Amino acid sequence: MNKPIITKQGSLLERAAEVYDFSARLNARAIPESDLQAPPVLKPVAPATVVETPKPVETPSAAAAPVETRAAPIARPAPVPPVALPVAGRQAKIDRDLLAENQLLVPGAAIGVLAEEFRLAKRHLLLTARQLNKHEPDKARTILVCSAKPGDGKTYCAINLAISMAAERETRVLLVDADFAKPGIMERLGVADGPGLLDALADPSIDIEKCVVGTDIPNLSLLPAGARTNADVELVASGRTPDLIARLLAADPERVVIFDSPPALSASPASVLALHVGQVMLVVRADKTSEGEIRDTVQRLEGCEHIQLLLNSVAFAPGGARFGSYYGQEDEGQ
Ligand SMILES: Nc1ncnc2c1ncn2[C@@H]1O[C@H](COP(=O)(O)OP(=O)(O)OP(=O)(O)O)[C@@H](O)[C@H]1O
Ligand SMILES: [Mg+2]
Repeated sequence: MNKPIITKQGSLLERAAEVYDFSARLNARAIPESDLQAPPVLKPVAPATVVETPKPVETPSAAAAPVETRAAPIARPAPVPPVALPVAGRQAKIDRDLLAENQLLVPGAAIGVLAEEFRLAKRHLLLTARQLNKHEPDKARTILVCSAKPGDGKTYCAINLAISMAAERETRVLLVDADFAKPGIMERLGVADGPGLLDALADPSIDIEKCVVGTDIPNLSLLPAGARTNADVELVASGRTPDLIARLLAADPERVVIFDSPPALSASPASVLALHVGQVMLVVRADKTSEGEIRDTVQRLEGCEHIQLLLNSVAFAPGGARFGSYYGQEDEGQ
């Protein structure tokens, strides 16, 4: 089996490396630590830790894509019309107040540090996906969000990444709750739970597409974890998992599938899922995850060759709201 490729880019890690001693190996992005008592205020990351990251072009997605010129000429690119989701299952409304309460990205809100951080993380993942697309086009569209231990911020980061990525042109995001023991995505978005991945794994007669829940966030749909059984681990490890992933990808050629997973050091499904995805976004809790834990986690996820680190809850220096002043305006997406 190939060793995971972990490459270092970005100055954040030069700081983090002092703690983790990974200076020659890792990719990282920083997510600012939040003050949970006073949502939605975020403690920004020190500018130097973020802005010198490799240069994924930071153009808003609407400006990056070709402009339709047959319509009346306009000076700026036309806003992206919301694309109807080809979802076979039910439709749900995402509770924006709950998003704000949970300090998650709120589509349509002013762009702040958090949104900008996820833009950078997203760009990096998309660039790697583009490379992967040359050889493994299906895998290129799958991302596993994982971490070493419970509470590191996997679900928080998976939701934010999904919301950020859904704002991309020509990308539809399916956020899959693959944390069967502690599913949290539906609840955190204020969407009623329902049949999901485990049900489709357990019962081949269930069409997994019918479990997909469309949302009122353009280009974002959800797949619940489904009903637990005593055989969750065996089900995920079965040959049906790659089949179902293939089915989800085949259902929509523009679809990117993001899996929120259980912690790699406490449960095995993350290692299994890592075998089937193109990239892993490994959430590292800046104030908690030790170097040894990162190494152990990377080892568990070695089925995937592309592991990107994302530092969560970074609070190197308050007062570096570098992006806020540039993105104070309303934005149509994140
Ligand atoms: N950067 C952050 N800013 C604000 N809140 C955060 C941040 N990161 C995590 N949290 C909060 O910390 C708590 C734990 O995060 P989360 O549930 O995402 O962790 P997890 O890794 O998915 O945990 P589990 O392994 O139990 O599923 C949640 O209440 C989440 O909202
Ligand atoms: Mg979680």
